[in-house]
This record gives sequence, C-alpha cells and structure tokens, in this order.
Amino acid sequence: MNKVAELFKIQHPIIAGGMVWVSGWRLAAAVSNAGGLGLLGAGSMHPDVLREHIRKARVATDKPFGVNVPLLYPEIDKVMDILVEEGVKVVFTSAGNPKTWTAMLKSHGMTVAHVVSSSKFALKAQEAGVDAVVAEGFEAGGHNGREETTTFVLIPQVRQAISIPLIAAGGIATGRGMLAAMALGADGVQMGTAFALAEESSAHTAFKEKSIALQEGDTMLCLKKLAPTRLVKNDFYARVALAENAGMDADELRDILGKGRAKLGIFEGNLVDGELEIGQIASLIKEIKPAKRIIDDIVEEFNRAKVVFANKN
Ligand SMILES: Cc1cc2nc3c(=O)[nH]c(=O)nc-3n(C[C@H](O)[C@H](O)[C@H](O)COP(=O)(O)O)c2cc1C
Repeated sequence: MNKVAELFKIQHPIIAGGMVWVSGWRLAAAVSNAGGLGLLGAGSMHPDVLREHIRKARVATDKPFGVNVPLLYPEIDKVMDILVEEGVKVVFTSAGNPKTWTAMLKSHGMTVAHVVSSSKFALKAQEAGVDAVVAEGFEAGGHNGREETTTFVLIPQVRQAISIPLIAAGGIATGRGMLAAMALGADGVQMGTAFALAEESSAHTAFKEKSIALQEGDTMLCLKKLAPTRLVKNDFYARVALAENAGMDADELRDILGKGRAKLGIFEGNLVDGELEIGQIASLIKEIKPAKRIIDDIVEEFNRAKVVFANKN
C-alpha cells in the first residue's frame, strides 16, 4: 500500500494544504470525503474559530482530516491546547521549528507532518520525530522558501536525505504532475493552488476567477526581506516591487504592507489592494470545480499516465 495513504488512513495520497482564508471545514471535509486528506488552515483563524471549524468538519465527514498550524502563530499555545482538547488526529506544522511541538503532539497520539523547502530542514524535521515531511518547491502559492529551489530539484534531494514518507508540494495540480513527483521519489502530493480554486474553498469568487485567468509568469515571489511570498502581479504587488527595488528595509516594507492584506485579497476579493497568494500552476487551471471532481480527475489522469509511461519504456 502507498505509504502516505497508509499513514493517514486515506484512499488517495493527495493532501489539500491548509491555507489561510481558504481552508475551512467545507473544503477540508469535501477533500476528505473524496478520499484525500483535507486540512483546516489555522493560520487565519482565531483559536475559538478553529475549534468551531474542527467540530463542523467532524460533522461533515467521518473520514480523517487534519489541521495546518504555522508555528509562528501568535497564540500558538492556545491553538495547541485546542488540538489536544478536540482530539485532532493529524497536524501539519509549517513556518517554524518542528522540535518545539512535535513531541507534545505525538504524545497525544497525533500523526505529525512538517513543511520544509530544503533537504537540510527535511532532515531536521525527521530528527525532530515527525511522521512525514512535506517538501515544497518555490512554484508554490503562499509563503515560500528563500532559496527558490524548484520542486523538480528539491524532491530527489530530500528523498536522499530522509527515510520517512515524503510528500511533494509546489506546482502540482494534475495526475501527470503527481506521477512526476512520485517518479522523483515522493510518496504523495500536497496541493494548494488547485484546492484554493475549488468550489468549497472559502476564497472569494473574484479571487478564484482572477486566478483561473492567470497566464504563465503572472505570479512572482517577493517580500524576501520579511516572509517570501508568491503574489499575483496586481497593483498591490507593483507597490511592493517598487519599494523593494528602492531598497526599503524590512520595517519600511512592513509599513507598506499594513495589516490584513491577505484577507483583503483572498477572502474579501479586493483584486487591487489585496495580497493575492496563489501558485504558478494557477495558469494551468481553467475551471472552478468541486473538490471531489479535482481529486477524481487527478486520480484518473494519474492512472492513465502510469500506463502511458510504462509503454514508453
Ligand atoms: C492562498 C494560499 C494560502 C496558503 N496558506 C498556507 C498556510 O497557512 N500554511 C501553510 O503551511 N501553507 C500554506 N499555503 C501553501 C499550501 O499549503 C501548499 O503547500 C502549496 O500551495 C502547494 O503548492 P501549489 O500552490 O503549487 O499547489 C498556502 C497556499 C495558498 C495558495
């Protein structure tokens, strides 16, 4: 059996990354009901809102689902308490040191994965005791690695560095993409962009429609002095790029950013002044579909591509 499917007790080794302003109980439950692993995105939820989403997801699916926790979250202790109190079974941590929380989460019987963007940190995550590593290339939507290592370069090297299950992320939205990631050594895939544009995603319709109209080259990694983030090239991005080119430092950039830009762009659909986080692969996606169709289409294409690939050689 596939290692990732076995670890999380799911049908297909496909994970919907937990995403700020996108991954609420509707999306997580829809993905899990379709045989993947749905994750709630705790990064944009107040702790009591997270608790509510965990409870609603549990009503909406009897399949396994999990929670993504960016470890730099300001009220991290409260979030961790809620995961324990609510009996969450699967946690994907990101943006921080996996050493701090992995042992505690595992002592409560949780399965823990950690997101990294380099082989060095993949090994550190394995040493911290996580059950699986998500290795994310810089094609990905959202916050990103500084070194700009692509998924194609990252996955084979992380495969050499670690022995635990490896989940590839960044630029994957098709069955052929999934097969390629697995040919490079991944045991499963995590997709963000594809599910951010699903019907059940909490993102604003204007954000989804803008994203499916993007062409190759319409997103750019910026804000390396703060937290490297891939953004759609809108007016807000142009202001950030101008400030970066003028050599502004982190504090000055923080002032330009202000607060709540990602919410404004992704959740409220302000395409001009909002921070529009989406991955490069958005340019390949042309339709807003239910999560189940996204998964069914990928699994079907993956199975067909395996046969074509076998016959090629
Ligand atoms: C709008 C958006 C928000 C995201 N928020 C988070 C987050 O809160 N925590 C996290 O670990 N990853 C986050 N990600 C990254 C995804 O979980 C996933 O790893 C990534 O999107 C995979 O690459 P892809 O976009 O090419 O599919 C986000 C991605 C997007 C597009």
